[in-house]
Amino acid sequence: MTAAVSAPSRALKLRQGTADLHDNIDKSIMAKDPFANVDNYVQFLSLQYYFLKDVAALYEHSELSKHIDDLVSRRRLGLLEQDFADLKQPLPSSSLTPLIDNNTDLATALGWLYVVEGSKVGAAMLGKQVQARLHYTGEFAARYLAGPGAGRGSAWRHLVQLIDTIELTQAQEQALIDGARQAFSRFQLYQAQVYS
Ligand code: HEM
Repeated sequence: MTAAVSAPSRALKLRQGTADLHDNIDKSIMAKDPFANVDNYVQFLSLQYYFLKDVAALYEHSELSKHIDDLVSRRRLGLLEQDFADLKQPLPSSSLTPLIDNNTDLATALGWLYVVEGSKVGAAMLGKQVQARLHYTGEFAARYLAGPGAGRGSAWRHLVQLIDTIELTQAQEQALIDGARQAFSRFQLYQAQVYS
């Protein structure tokens, strides 16, 4: 008897196809001890801010919004801005031009969105750490990390479901993975800037 072997889902392929970049980012962020003191934390928030500013157009992307009803409400830039205000810190400003705009093709944009939304999965865990070490919460200075949508909630499950079921050509499948890898690389570029 031959056991049926089903192909891994697209979301799983995305996860496997970007695991090297995720591991590198996770380890290098934690190596900076981001919750050791306020300065380190502000540096960590600046990194997130540069990245979220860079990808802001994703949350208004007209093709993505046809597939994701709550796209606009998934944005976290406002929460991050409030964290800076809580800490009485100015917002950082980047000299880089965003790579994403409304003309970015759907599959590439979806690959980027997977990365940005996926960063909320780890954020839930980091939110607990910042609360334990700096006593910041979802009501003050850790709105971004502890805010709504963190973890593997229904918003994440819906995105994974969309990635798995949306009709894509082979070229678009590749664009999806390339988009996700580009997004992680973009994050690494900001890491290099913030921690230079
Ligand atoms: C210190 C920083 C980070 C830590 C500790 C961390 C940790 C985690 C953890 C524990 C998960 C869940 C893995 C699992 O359930 O097996 C996860 C998922 C994920 N994280 Fe991170 N993460 C960090 C930063 C980031 C950043 C900056 C990004 C994006 C730029 C990111 C993107 C993702 C993605 C896309 C997933 C979903 C993977 C999947 O299930 O397909 N993470 N992260």
